[in-house]
Amino acid sequence: MTVYGFIGAGNMAGAIVRGTIAAGTPATDVLLTSAHDSAARLAQATGARHVPVAADLVAASDVVVLAVKPHVVPGVLAPLADVLAARRPLVLSIAAGLSTERLAEMLPPGARVVRAMPNMAATVGQSMTALAAGPAATDTDLETADAS
Ligand SMILES: NC(=O)c1ccc[n+]([C@@H]2O[C@H](COP(=O)([O-])OP(=O)(O)OC[C@H]3O[C@@H](n4cnc5c(N)ncnc54)[C@H](OP(=O)(O)O)[C@@H]3O)[C@@H](O)[C@H]2O)c1
Repeated sequence: MTVYGFIGAGNMAGAIVRGTIAAGTPATDVLLTSAHDSAARLAQATGARHVPVAADLVAASDVVVLAVKPHVVPGVLAPLADVLAARRPLVLSIAAGLSTERLAEMLPPGARVVRAMPNMAATVGQSMTALAAGPAATDTDLETADAS
C-alpha cells in the first residue's frame, strides 16, 4: 500500500484526505503534519495518523503531499532536504503558483515532483484536478498522483 504524508492539514488537505480515504486508502496509511493543531484535528476527524515531526512523516511516506501556502513551501522544504534525499518520495504539490521547475530547485537533485491543481470543489469530492509532471517524474508517478 502507498503511504501518503501530508504537510499541511488545512482546507485542501482535509478535502483530499477525506477523498483519499473514501476511495479506499486505509486511514492509517495517511499521515498528517502541520505547524499548529490542524493536523491533530484532521487526524482525529478522519482516523489518519498525526505525525508531529515533519521529518518523521517524510521518512515514512511514499508520497509527500505539499499542502501548505505557497510562500511557506521554501521554509518547509529546506530543513527536510536530508530526509527527502534519503527517502526519495514522490512529492505532490498543490501549492498554487509554484512551478515544477521552481519546486525541483527547492528539492534534492533528481527529486520526483508532480504538481496538482485542485479547486474548492474538492471539499465536496467534485474537483477536477490538473496535473503537471516535473523533469524527473515518471509515468508511474503521474498515475500515482492521478490516483491520489
Ligand atoms: N483553497 C483552495 O481552493 C485551493 C485550491 C487549489 C490549491 N490550493 C493550494 O493548497 C494549499 C493549501 O491551501 P489551504 O486553503 O488548504 O490552506 P489552509 O487551510 O490555510 O492550510 C494551510 C496548512 O498549512 C499548515 N502549515 C503552515 N505552516 C506550516 C509549516 N511551516 N509546516 C507545516 N505545516 C504548515 C497549516 O497548519 P496549522 O493550521 O496547524 O498552523 C495548515 O494546516 C495552498 O498552497 C493553496 O495554494 C488551494
